[in-house]
Amino acid sequence: MTTSEYLTQHRERFEAELIEFLSIPSVSTDPERSGDVVRCANWLADHLRGIGLEHVEVLPTNGHPIVYAENLDAGEGAPTVLFYGHYDVQPVDPLNLWTNPPFEPVVRDGKIFARGATDDKGQVFLHIKAIEALLAVEGRLPVNIKLLIEGEEEIGSTHLAPFVKENAAKLACDSVLVSDTSMFAPGQPSIVYSLRGMAYMQIDVQGPNRDLHSGSYGGAVQNPLNALATIIAKLKDEHGHITIDGFYDDVKSLTEQERADLAALGHSDERLKADVDVAELFGEEGYSSIERLGARPTLDVNGILGGFTGEGAKTVLPARVMAKISMRLVPHQKHDDIAEKFTAHVKSIAPAGVTVQVQDLHGADPVLVERDSPVMHAATQALEETFSAKCRFTREGGSIPVVLLFDQVLNVPTVLMGFGLNNENAHSPDEHFDLSNFHTGMRAVVRYHHLLAAAGR
Ligand code: BES
Ligand code: MN
Ligand code: MN
Repeated sequence: MTTSEYLTQHRERFEAELIEFLSIPSVSTDPERSGDVVRCANWLADHLRGIGLEHVEVLPTNGHPIVYAENLDAGEGAPTVLFYGHYDVQPVDPLNLWTNPPFEPVVRDGKIFARGATDDKGQVFLHIKAIEALLAVEGRLPVNIKLLIEGEEEIGSTHLAPFVKENAAKLACDSVLVSDTSMFAPGQPSIVYSLRGMAYMQIDVQGPNRDLHSGSYGGAVQNPLNALATIIAKLKDEHGHITIDGFYDDVKSLTEQERADLAALGHSDERLKADVDVAELFGEEGYSSIERLGARPTLDVNGILGGFTGEGAKTVLPARVMAKISMRLVPHQKHDDIAEKFTAHVKSIAPAGVTVQVQDLHGADPVLVERDSPVMHAATQALEETFSAKCRFTREGGSIPVVLLFDQVLNVPTVLMGFGLNNENAHSPDEHFDLSNFHTGMRAVVRYHHLLAAAGR
């Protein structure tokens, strides 16, 4: 039997197993789900043992556990691949907008619907199934494999960072492989060569010591919600330009060549508008959408809490309000630097009459990977052969905190080979994953490992 025949024969079982994996609500940010996160780590570890991996560990951290496994039996001269992914998922709210419950996966129109389907459980699982097929059919893997699957990616990989630094020897490898990004479009595989970084901040605004009647006090006492709105309104101007002092200091402007490369990808604003159902796009003046998404930093309010939001009307000045604000960073901005500049700027524009506190919740530095390397060539070839389509090089707007750290600590190239699609509702209701990419992805991964083995170290 060939690996290809094996993958065909076991399609249904793979989908059934993915459904089990997706049924575990491993929401990393929710303290009430921490038991489920641990259960998910253990499920994954048991599964890895089940496919024949011998060194499988669930490693505790001060947060959620890391699942680690390896098979180093590929033999003399075989390269070692470190695969990275995450088994944690985002919260499911707003729950009422899901067609089916987020942790009761269903298959509709060739897509599997569940929280984590595309980000990142479905993508992680296709790698595990590719490894299973190689072990089952060929008796050993063509390359040495180390698997590092964490439970805190969606909350900034706080405890993975020290783990990677302390375990550089354990994680030593010739290249890193990540599937936590998207393809350019259906049928059009891509490799991501740039990820944006992140600075995730919280602003708390405290006014009077209690909520106040807005008639008895309004006009004479600062309203914390008005103050917060004023602060937020001042962070960006009407041209979509961020006004924080020094914010753009380290942003390199795009060269004509880079602009031409991005333009040549054939991104469609019409498709983007249709996807998200808006009549008009919005962004920083002077840049195209593909530039805004991949190569320019952003500032966005993720949520605001405060005041009366019940039905009807209540007249009140709320005492305490809060906003969560994230900034996406591009090479060569630094999370620490931007967090500091944000904090100083917000304090400097805080209106009188309130106390403003700023917290840095988590962050990540942006990533730029070398496009011209032997592993990139193997990845391109594997994708092109498997999908029978040209492979694109894309810049992705999202962030994966640990990728830059791999580069710094392990000093090897990373391949960001994603099988998701941007309209699969990651972080949103009705998240799903195209099962054809699930199955084709396995074949691409099998091919990639074979090509890496043929190229040697
Ligand atoms: N898989 C995403 C990263 C991603 C998003 C890649 C979109 C490609 C396109 C990852 O799980 C994610 O959501 N990361 C967070 C990181 C943050 C919490 C530091 C993100 O980008 O918001
Ligand atoms: Mn992800
Ligand atoms: Mn995510």
